[in-house]
Amino acid sequence: MSRIARPRHYLMCKPTFFDVRYSINPWMDPSLATSNSAALGQWKWVHDLLVDLGHHVEHIQPIPDLPDMVFAANGATVVDGKALVARFRHAERADEAPAYVEWFRRNGFREVRQAAYVNEGEGDFLTAGRHILAGSGFRSDPAACREVAEFFGREVLALNLVDPRFYHLDTALAVLDDDEIMYNPRAFCPESRDLLAQHYPDALLVDEEDALGFGLNAVSDGLHVVVSDKVVRLGAQLAERGFHVIGTDTTELMKSGGSVKCCTLEIRR
Ligand code: ARG
Repeated sequence: MSRIARPRHYLMCKPTFFDVRYSINPWMDPSLATSNSAALGQWKWVHDLLVDLGHHVEHIQPIPDLPDMVFAANGATVVDGKALVARFRHAERADEAPAYVEWFRRNGFREVRQAAYVNEGEGDFLTAGRHILAGSGFRSDPAACREVAEFFGREVLALNLVDPRFYHLDTALAVLDDDEIMYNPRAFCPESRDLLAQHYPDALLVDEEDALGFGLNAVSDGLHVVVSDKVVRLGAQLAERGFHVIGTDTTELMKSGGSVKCCTLEIRR
């Protein structure tokens, strides 16, 4: 199967102030030591790789006392040049949102709005071809689906997450190509599983072990899949489908519950 990489545009945030000081997901244990330089090294590796692959990467300035700001995917959803900026569930991250509003305004986006309902951006809203897949259950409000559908004028597939370890949609499901996805069925309620099976009968189903290795928190450009190297079977499964898999160490970022995808917000002009 021949795959084609499409050049992408990403927004990333350097983990200058990365830390695990509070716990808002089951991965975060503030009593464990974190290393800022390890986080910076892992982030830079992903960043430089995306640039080397020919993608355009822009930066948003990190802010002191916002230790989760490295997870730029949560900042907004950006489709057709319109930016719907996040409204975070937890007070610890709320101050990230104004920085995104400002970034998109300053960078010439014609429509920039902060979501009215709790909405954690591309953490929970993944664009796949003409559709937007939406996750709720832990972070984004179910009502955010309607707001996203109206704002972007796109069909939204609402999915319900049920396992707190997979608290954002991008920890349970990844978009590989326009209409091709991979996911961990056990992260979803039975109705959502049925919906996914109906819409994506050829999806790659990922087992729990690889999902726990952050295998679904992957970034694909249609050919290259950049993914945590803590997966067992996923690399071979993706290679069999014609993808070029690039594994990377994100263990430091995983202490906060994030990996490759969490660090990249895709901008669709
Ligand atoms: N510690 C962050 C939080 O709990 C991690 C966010 C990961 N981002 C993501 N897109 N899944 O909010």
